[in-house]
Amino acid sequence: MRLLVTGGLGFIGSNFIRHMLAADRKVSIVNLDLLTYAGNPANLSDVVGDYGGRYRWVKGDIADPRVVRRCMAGADAVVHFAAETHVDRSILDASAFIRSNVVGTQILLDAALRHKVGRFVHVSTDEVYGSVASGWSREDDRLEPNSPYAASKAASDLLVRSYVVTHGLPVVITRASNNFGPYQYPEKALPLMITNWLDGKDFPLYGNGGNVRDWLFVVDHARALELVLRRGQIGEIYNIGGTHSCTNRELVEQVRALMGINARLVRRVPDRPGHDRRYALDCFKLKKLGFKHAYGFVEALQSTVGWYRGHEAWWRPLKKGGGYQKYYSRQYAARLQGRTAG
Ligand code: DAU
Repeated sequence: MRLLVTGGLGFIGSNFIRHMLAADRKVSIVNLDLLTYAGNPANLSDVVGDYGGRYRWVKGDIADPRVVRRCMAGADAVVHFAAETHVDRSILDASAFIRSNVVGTQILLDAALRHKVGRFVHVSTDEVYGSVASGWSREDDRLEPNSPYAASKAASDLLVRSYVVTHGLPVVITRASNNFGPYQYPEKALPLMITNWLDGKDFPLYGNGGNVRDWLFVVDHARALELVLRRGQIGEIYNIGGTHSCTNRELVEQVRALMGINARLVRRVPDRPGHDRRYALDCFKLKKLGFKHAYGFVEALQSTVGWYRGHEAWWRPLKKGGGYQKYYSRQYAARLQGRTAG
């Protein structure tokens, strides 16, 4: 199977590529990735060495129809990860989110149609359902996105749906919960917490820390995506949830215990504007397809902490970079002054 993966130098995309190349010797992959701030060739340096003959990176933009058409030619299937993903960044400036997540998706869909691609997996998020006070979001629930990021993903999901209905494009949508694991850019809560604590620095906890997230190990996410790619029904949506749901306060305590941190090292900061209180996914459809998680939460968290301990050379340069520092000063300047955009 010749796969076109978009955004494969990012966190989830790179873990998926590593998984697919190891799982099936008949898979070859073209990875279309622009190398924006969250992409990193180091995320796949082992893959280049081990599977170089079956893997190729094309540096290019999913919003550029020419490069997209070139990469799409000859692909049997597409798995589309490329996206701006960080909620806080979308609050500061939503423009890149519309360009990549909405326009980029439309350009990919058009190219897939033109090249008669056999299958297109659109990787989306539980955030499109909005905050759920109780119960679990099902795939046919109403979309109520609350952040500009979530709205851009919901827009892309609806665009995908329209290509199935109008053009018969063979697309499947997946919606996953909060991923964690190796190679996650350290602006997200878990890698930020772990790497700050390795340096004896505080983790900034938003609001009262009572927000609930459902944690999915990225390797299990990659396994679920492979299943959906091979066996998912065209036109269907599959929720992909994790194995552990908890408040951010509880997460802080679990990581603290695992890392053996005695000091408090948590600083309460003003809440994220529009902060969704709780996400929770009903994963009955995925289970019916045959999915079972392979990793428990504690062992996955343990191995993730161990990975960040053992890979300082991966994350330190990212945190020292000018872009990272600039983002953080902008983020907290805005938050502390009560501004939410601009
Ligand atoms: O639910 C799936 C989504 O999970 C993905 O679609 C998004 O791309 C991904 O970024 C993630 O969104 P969240 O906003 O839930 O993830 P984040 O790691 O930013 O935050 C997790 C929780 O921790 C959230 O309730 C906000 C809180 N938080 C986050 C950061 C970065 C803090 O308390 N302090 C922080 O510094």
